Amino acid sequence: MEKLTGLNKVKTAVFISGSGSNLKSLIKFSKVKKSPIFIDLIVSNTKKAKGLQYARQFHIKSKILNFKNIKNTEKKLLAFLERNKIKLICLAGFMSILSKNFIKKFDCKILNIHPSLLPKYKGLNTHNRAIKNKDKFSGCTVHYVTEKLDSGRIIMQKKVKITKRDTSTTLARKILKHEHKLYPKAILKVFS
Ligand code: GRF
Repeated sequence: MEKLTGLNKVKTAVFISGSGSNLKSLIKFSKVKKSPIFIDLIVSNTKKAKGLQYARQFHIKSKILNFKNIKNTEKKLLAFLERNKIKLICLAGFMSILSKNFIKKFDCKILNIHPSLLPKYKGLNTHNRAIKNKDKFSGCTVHYVTEKLDSGRIIMQKKVKITKRDTSTTLARKILKHEHKLYPKAILKVFS
């Protein structure tokens, strides 16, 4: 097998909107030898995203973009990704919805992590809905991004038990810890 160095790893952009704990775990993962990815860019749809601190901490370039003006923003972003030879996008708590056109035109893979056992609970408030329905398990899913929200082919899932005492906050916390392990594993699977 070819030895992976920073030079031949897959140039990756991580898109965030919030605290960026998945971003942090992906950065850590990208630095281990067996990791197939190199994180070259962080994109946020808000300057308020706490996760932007990791761009500064790990010296990764970042872009804060206004996805309200989606057509123009995506056009510029696509050109930037192409110029910078970005071959993989990992959505990690990214709260804007990418347009069909963007997904079609970006010629490489786009992955997402979602805090439920898809196809259950697409969209928002997944933990609340799982608890309300008295589900015994929830979990997280890494999947390919397609034009249909949270519906692309599933790469990997992790099941997490819901206890009687769980609230949406405790469940979210529990699942997030598993997300940090699942995303790197799913990336390894994609590139194995
Ligand atoms: C995660 O639970 C992710 O699955 C969801 O939003 C949360 C983001 O957390 N889409 P973080 O910003 O990675 O800490």
